[in-house]
Amino acid sequence: MRNPGEELEETAATYAREAIRLDSQGNFAGSIIYYQNAVETLLKLIKLYPENPVNRMYYEKARAYQERIKALQRIRGVYGDEKGDSGSDGPHKGGIKVAPMVETVKASFEELLVTDRPNVNMEDVVGLKNAKLSLRQAIVYPFQRPDLFPLGWPRGILLFGPPGCGKTMLAAAVANEIDGYFLSVDAASIMSKWLGDAEKNVARLFSYARKLVEDPKPVIIFIDEVDSLLSLHRQEIGGEARVRNQFLKEMDGLFDKGRSLQLYVLAATNKPWLLDDAFLRRFQKRVYVQPSDLRARRKLFEKYTEPLVLDSSVKIDELAKITDGYSPSDIRDICQDAQLKVVTELFESGKASDPGSRPRAISMGDFKEIIKQRRPSLVAERVKLYEKWNSNYGAI
Ligand SMILES: Nc1ncnc2c1ncn2[C@@H]1O[C@H](COP(=O)(O)OP(=O)(O)OP(=O)(O)O)[C@@H](O)[C@H]1O
Ligand SMILES: [Mg+2]
Repeated sequence: MRNPGEELEETAATYAREAIRLDSQGNFAGSIIYYQNAVETLLKLIKLYPENPVNRMYYEKARAYQERIKALQRIRGVYGDEKGDSGSDGPHKGGIKVAPMVETVKASFEELLVTDRPNVNMEDVVGLKNAKLSLRQAIVYPFQRPDLFPLGWPRGILLFGPPGCGKTMLAAAVANEIDGYFLSVDAASIMSKWLGDAEKNVARLFSYARKLVEDPKPVIIFIDEVDSLLSLHRQEIGGEARVRNQFLKEMDGLFDKGRSLQLYVLAATNKPWLLDDAFLRRFQKRVYVQPSDLRARRKLFEKYTEPLVLDSSVKIDELAKITDGYSPSDIRDICQDAQLKVVTELFESGKASDPGSRPRAISMGDFKEIIKQRRPSLVAERVKLYEKWNSNYGAI
């Protein structure tokens, strides 16, 4: 199983490596082509996975390569297409030196850590009553009154469940319930080939968190898609074992010498079965973030249609009934699509240029059409797997 975009990322890295190699040899024409390929691949990655937190770095990379292409083209413009001399101080030609291409990205792992508190509250998360309570017990209460927990409290909390049901959202909401730091990173960034050794990134993450705790505000480390820390397809032999071992070591540190620290590790995954026993042991709380039931789906439709104009044919109860198997994220998308449908009609009619024009109200027929065209993302058999895993390993 691969992380999204991983193959493409690998390709971009290969292009960039080759570009830099040719560049250092003074083969400008060749390196320009590879830089261009690297830039294109990076931009494609950003476009395909717009939510990827590594994108900021991809942009910087792409920009740096583009600058380099321009610089190299300038030299070639002056001196023609021949190769320049090579030298340890970078390519130069006819006495004019070009500064060597410097790789700057390795140091920027810390920059990828998101420390801003996300703008989501517990009330925004629909349903999931048990999961919310469980998180309050594990994090919010000990935060507020550590004196009431003489036996300590769990340090590792795992959120698991099918895609689009609110794991990431819930983690963000917890951060807002407490007056502490929220250090969020996704495992794919930790593992990114662009950011140096993954196990060092794990160590950096925890040491950064420990420094923050001294503030002395509490800290939550949130690792999204944590299963990819353990992904078994890593090419470098032993690579995944080192990352995993570093992670386990850091977790253990929280139980012994970090005991007095208010530091928590919250992790999320939609593939809990990829996590092994040693890993799970460090997460005393394992909370199932389950698909919405009828009631929750009704609330979701209420929430996401609230800013929209509906006509009287729209029956929220019925929408909830016909969307069994649709995740909260699907439901949000359905509502978004319904609005897009009427807005498109307005644009296509040519009336949108009038600033006073409004789209028509959304009807039940619009919703039904959209729902029919869209398959539910929660397949019953898959959901059963989560339930089974929950009954074997869940711990709230
Ligand atoms: N319980 C919920 N209440 C309200 N909105 C939700 C809920 N769950 C998901 N959503 C909507 O769907 C979006 C995606 O949800 P989220 O990213 O939290 O899912 P996830 O469980 O982390 O999925 P994945 O496993 O794919 O990472 C949210 O940003 C939100 O708009
Ligand atoms: Mg998520």
